[in-house]
Amino acid sequence: MIIPVNTNTSSYEVHLGENILRDFNERNAEVLKKADQLVVISDRHVWSLHESYFREHFTLPFKVYLVPNGEACKTFESYFDVQSFLLKENCSRSSALFALGGGAVGDLTGFVASTFMRGIPFYQIPTTILAHDSAVGGKTAINHPNGKNMIGAFYQPKEVLYDFHFLETLPVLEVRSGLAEVIKHALISNENWMNEFFSLETIESIEKTHLLQWLEKGIRVKAHIVELDETEQSYRKYLNFGHTYGHAVEASVGYGKITHGEAVMIGMIPALMLSELHGKVRAGYARKVYELAQRLGYDFNAVLGCSFDQLARFMLKDKKTTNGELNFALLQSIGEPFVKIISMDEVQNCDIQLRKWIEEGQ
Ligand SMILES: NC(=O)c1ccc[n+]([C@@H]2O[C@H](COP(=O)([O-])OP(=O)(O)OC[C@H]3O[C@@H](n4cnc5c(N)ncnc54)[C@H](O)[C@@H]3O)[C@@H](O)[C@H]2O)c1
Ligand SMILES: [Zn+2]
Repeated sequence: MIIPVNTNTSSYEVHLGENILRDFNERNAEVLKKADQLVVISDRHVWSLHESYFREHFTLPFKVYLVPNGEACKTFESYFDVQSFLLKENCSRSSALFALGGGAVGDLTGFVASTFMRGIPFYQIPTTILAHDSAVGGKTAINHPNGKNMIGAFYQPKEVLYDFHFLETLPVLEVRSGLAEVIKHALISNENWMNEFFSLETIESIEKTHLLQWLEKGIRVKAHIVELDETEQSYRKYLNFGHTYGHAVEASVGYGKITHGEAVMIGMIPALMLSELHGKVRAGYARKVYELAQRLGYDFNAVLGCSFDQLARFMLKDKKTTNGELNFALLQSIGEPFVKIISMDEVQNCDIQLRKWIEEGQ
């Protein structure tokens, strides 16, 4: 399966399915032989699980550099270490990077690629469900102690190689995290698709064939939006659905304490409450999605661990906040997103409601 992505600055393909890595090598051997170095950046955990598969199917000579797994690799230190490695190995403008891992490795590698020698090609090889989202669209970044993803660039990959083999080792926590972004893609694009999720009873009961179809759909939604608006001037803001409140929770409890997807799932509930108020989303829909999230094991307790004041401070610091105004991505109806300025008082009302639901469920 190939999904083309055509942005203003570049065109590339997302290849997804089985045997993607093997086919990539066969298809690109001639082009890649012209590169003076191929460098694979991965995290220690992913590499320990998939080194042999990777070596078996990636047949061209390459060097590998391993970074800490998770958010710990999106630091200035890792960024510097990777650059130092590339210089030590005499990489040049004719070198190419491969990001083998989840969104964290992808974001780091993309940012390194965007700046090394003023920009060298890079390929995304996502290994998580969440990375169906992060590997497409060209947002790359590292974190600053003052905020997540604060230092970065829009820089598109040469190709995205989504080999489903890697997903087999994903722990349920990471499946849950990635599924939140899949559900987000359904909510902002297609009500019929969203309805498929309501029949789910547990994360474990998800059938592989369904998951793979959903990943394809999610990538199509993401690709389409990025094509319309590569640098987030308009439509791309829709992809922030659930992220304003979600990022605030993620930041308040401390990055890495809950997964990104868990935070997004939490954030989608206030966004749906606001969509009932400002859009035509039917009353009770936010509650219905909240109950689905409960069935799938999303843990909302993180919300109780932070005060609303704390969340408000983070929401005001968010990159999407302009002049102290909260730009919320909301839904007019399921599948029909829009952006609206929302007052902090209104967000607080949703926060109060959400806390009630969480406390009642305890
Ligand atoms: N650039 C974007 O558009 C965008 C979009 C969404 C999220 N993000 C970023 O993505 C990051 C989150 O991505 P993520 O959830 O993929 O996290 P991640 O890269 O931190 O991976 C999560 C964990 O799963 C492990 N892992 C990865 N693949 C595995 C596999 N196949 N089997 C077993 N374990 C595996 C990793 O070692 C890590 O410990 C965040 O930093 C977020 O900011 C970026
Ligand atoms: Zn996200």
